[in-house]
Amino acid sequence: MSKTIIITGGAGFIGSHVVRLFVNKYPDYRIINLDKLTYAGNLSNLKDVEQKPNYKFVKMDICDFPAVLKLMQDEQADGIIHLAAESHVDRSIKDPFSFAQTNVMGTLSLLQAAKAYWESLPEKYEGKRFYHISTDEVYGALEMTNPEGIEPPFSTKASSGAHHLAYGSAFFTEKTKYQPHSPYSAAKASSDHFVRAFHDTFGLPTIVTNCSNNYGPYQFPEKLIPLFVNNIRHRKPLPVYGKGENDRDWLYVEDPARAIDLIFHKGQIAETYNIGGFNEWKNIDIVKLLIKTTDRLLGRPEGVDMDLITYVTDRAGHDLRYAIDSTKLQRELGWEPSLQFEEGIEKTVRWYLDNQAWLDAVTSGDYQKYYESMYQGR
Ligand code: NAD
Ligand code: DAU
Repeated sequence: MSKTIIITGGAGFIGSHVVRLFVNKYPDYRIINLDKLTYAGNLSNLKDVEQKPNYKFVKMDICDFPAVLKLMQDEQADGIIHLAAESHVDRSIKDPFSFAQTNVMGTLSLLQAAKAYWESLPEKYEGKRFYHISTDEVYGALEMTNPEGIEPPFSTKASSGAHHLAYGSAFFTEKTKYQPHSPYSAAKASSDHFVRAFHDTFGLPTIVTNCSNNYGPYQFPEKLIPLFVNNIRHRKPLPVYGKGENDRDWLYVEDPARAIDLIFHKGQIAETYNIGGFNEWKNIDIVKLLIKTTDRLLGRPEGVDMDLITYVTDRAGHDLRYAIDSTKLQRELGWEPSLQFEEGIEKTVRWYLDNQAWLDAVTSGDYQKYYESMYQGR
């Protein structure tokens, strides 16, 4: 059945993979990419779909409630998949206001617009969906009770490589109490509460997912993996925060994009689903893997760039360990990651090395001219 879906933040990292998946998989749907094009938005991430008849880009700020409401009315939107956010923890430490503005007020503006538009329709909320994409960081940090790592109680394709470890026995479940520590995660937590409040108060058909760390092509090179691949290539120092002992659960971005598709179509209204890979890695182990992989792909002796590792002052309030229990999603909707980490890292490093022009455009700021050339005057 045909649907019109607004995907917010579609020019960002995860959003561009979600837009690509929906545009290609659902030719009957109309996919509207609503994005403000902040520093993190890059329309060249979507070059391969921008001419498709079922795709449309709209430059808009989610905080602009009248504009969002008008867009929903004009486009007769049936669903919203909401990814737009300020997403980088280090930036939130420097400028918390913009995180509260976009992540909290922007989400509220979308909720109000969806409520106002859908309530004005004869069928009201029938067949409608507001799907909010959130993060595991809202749950706070887990203890590192097994610093050497143990066989985890669960495994997935993502964790089935040579490295298959959990650094503690506790995991974030959908029932874990919220305990955000950074201004970023505090703002995301607040937005999650607003989404659930709109379901409980007004009956808005909402779904929330909390996902672990994503990696893959088109990630802005301020985040660990693309930043470090680029630095290794150019033999620049690799700034490892603290002792590099912090641990994250990683997923190749196309896997969460598939989960988002599945949950948007088959998830239960008012439910929360955790998305994770049971694939924990300490930062320092990832950095070593990135160095070896990048060196090998560049034809350098493997590991020759280990001396680029530079331990720097830790991130303020740095969460020690994130580990997601995604059993509910696996059991109820049958989702599983498709790629093991070493394969995903190889694919990702290769992509950044093959797409140096993308990285150069992003690091020089030239990517922001792409919008001017593509969309001005339309
Ligand atoms: P990103 O920073 O790469 O992209 C964010 C996008 O949102 C950009 O295109 C930006 O232009 C747009 N945007 C920002 N402010 C806007 C505004 N006011 N109005 C309209 N558009 C705006 O982010 P990402 O890493 O792709 O993350 C996407 C979502 O997934 C976020 O909500 C984030 O909290 C969540 N998430 C990310 C990860 C991860 O590992 N990257 C993990 C879990 C959850
Ligand atoms: O867990 C999900 C979250 O993952 C998302 O909600 C966020 O949007 C996303 O940015 C990501 O947050 P992290 O803070 O985990 O990602 P980042 O890539 O910034 O850092 C990963 C780890 O690497 C973290 O422990 C900090 C460390 N790090 C990061 C950078 C940029 C370094 O040691 N050095 C660095 O230069």
